[in-house]
Amino acid sequence: MGSLKDEQNQQHYTYQEAKCVWVHGPIIVGAGPSGLATSACLTNQGVPYVILEKTGCLASLWQNRTYDRLKLHLPKQFCQFPLLGFPRNFPKYPTKDQFISYMESYASHFGILPRFKQSVQTAEFDDGLGFWRVKTQDREYISRWLIVATGENAEPVVPEVPGIDKFKGTVVHTSLYRSGAEFKNQRVLVIGCGNSGMEVSLDLCRHNAIPHLVVRNTVHVLPREMFGFSTFGIAMALLKWFPLRLVDKFLLLVANFTLGKTERIGIRRPKTGPIELKNVTGKTPVLDVGALSHIKSGKIKVMEGVKEITRSGAKFMDGQEKEFDSIILATGYKSNVPIWLKGSEFFTKDGMPKTPFPNGWKAEKGLYTVGFTGRGLLGTASDAVKIAGDIGEQWRTIKNCNNISCNSHVILLKETWFTHLCK
Ligand SMILES: Cc1cc2nc3c(=O)[nH]c(=O)nc-3n(C[C@H](O)[C@H](O)[C@H](O)COP(=O)(O)OP(=O)(O)OC[C@H]3O[C@@H](n4cnc5c(N)ncnc54)[C@H](O)[C@@H]3O)c2cc1C
Ligand SMILES: NC(=O)c1ccc[n+]([C@@H]2O[C@H](COP(=O)([O-])OP(=O)(O)OC[C@H]3O[C@@H](n4cnc5c(N)ncnc54)[C@H](OP(=O)(O)O)[C@@H]3O)[C@@H](O)[C@H]2O)c1
Repeated sequence: MGSLKDEQNQQHYTYQEAKCVWVHGPIIVGAGPSGLATSACLTNQGVPYVILEKTGCLASLWQNRTYDRLKLHLPKQFCQFPLLGFPRNFPKYPTKDQFISYMESYASHFGILPRFKQSVQTAEFDDGLGFWRVKTQDREYISRWLIVATGENAEPVVPEVPGIDKFKGTVVHTSLYRSGAEFKNQRVLVIGCGNSGMEVSLDLCRHNAIPHLVVRNTVHVLPREMFGFSTFGIAMALLKWFPLRLVDKFLLLVANFTLGKTERIGIRRPKTGPIELKNVTGKTPVLDVGALSHIKSGKIKVMEGVKEITRSGAKFMDGQEKEFDSIILATGYKSNVPIWLKGSEFFTKDGMPKTPFPNGWKAEKGLYTVGFTGRGLLGTASDAVKIAGDIGEQWRTIKNCNNISCNSHVILLKETWFTHLCK
């Protein structure tokens, strides 16, 4: 443990002094849940690392870009990180603040100290040198391993809705929405019917606003729990024994029984079942936490697709026209990997690994990805353990190599050369 600390201190010294930093171990980009979980697993393997975070805090998505009423949708056992679980006194579905406090304790338990305000602008493998060169606004970091942990939800998706520039009221993406208190008594158009759109509509109702929810497509809404157990947990358990299509049929049967046929309230179900759809397209089912009953009672009004936004409201595909005070874009998020990762064939143009789960965590030339599984925090935990195990093995091979003819020796020589060059 002592030598790991020494190496991290040495890195810290170099970081403060130099424009170019040799990193003994991997560079992790992003200090959200994925970056934190991977850091802890690397420490457990005795591997030092540097973690670069563009904002001034850890888990910036959770701290700065989520609404106040947010709770985890899945029970805590499906959301905890490796090596240190949630405190016992946490409820089944922790609140956003509890989740943030868990991540802060996790970081302090494993001594995770991200380099804050280090926004990675480019990362490229230098074939000549055989290392990754990672540039932030301040300096260049060099390592033989790069771990991408910038998340599937790095940037808000802001679609071009015709006429939206003319609208005289407020237009805000859900990443900037905090509470319905700011929209009290307003007529609000919520565009997008994922988990964010549904929960924001519910929150607006609780603050006496009048939400109109745009549902342009088919969507699966499932109850968060069935018979007192989490729907997700039930699905996971059934999938161990039964084929996927049968499990989907069961989920839909219970959903229709407990929620009623959502088609009757304007929410059409896709023909493909919820789990199959998630596997094929990545589209997450909505887990209902109360919005549906407000749709049934007419407090949340479901609207078809928007045709165009006007100065004071919107025209819809079905010919209706309504006035609104504000518009909330619940239109989702996207990865930002294509902006900064250069020369890698591993990602699609949308910034997701081409290789699907469970094999998308490892790419070529020391490149790894964590948290791009479409499986939320459960996927993050699985990736983090595998990545740390894989790098840990390489790390020990390099450290134990004293033989001049060994390939690792060449790497060590290069490392020494870089450490001097960077000072
Ligand atoms: C409203 C909302 C609720 C959610 N609720 C759940 C839930 O209940 N359960 C669940 O499993 N999932 C949930 N998710 C999905 C969520 O994305 C994951 O839970 C989790 O945040 C993913 O962690 P991550 O570390 O991969 O990505 P993020 O949390 O997005 O963290 C990525 C980090 O990388 C940093 N970063 C990005 N680009 C750069 C760069 N170029 N240089 C340096 N740093 C950079 C960011 O600032 C950020 O801190 C939710 C998502 C949203 C939007
Ligand atoms: N409590 C929780 O656990 C919680 C809460 C919120 C979010 N989340 C998670 O966070 C992630 C993001 O969720 P999200 O709801 O923000 O995004 P999302 O799941 O991607 O949903 C975006 C929605 O916007 C719609 N949309 C996009 N562009 C549109 C347009 N131009 N006009 C009309 N509709 C448009 C999409 O419809 P189409 O299908 O037609 O494209 C979709 O319904 C998901 O993984 C989600 O599960 C979790």
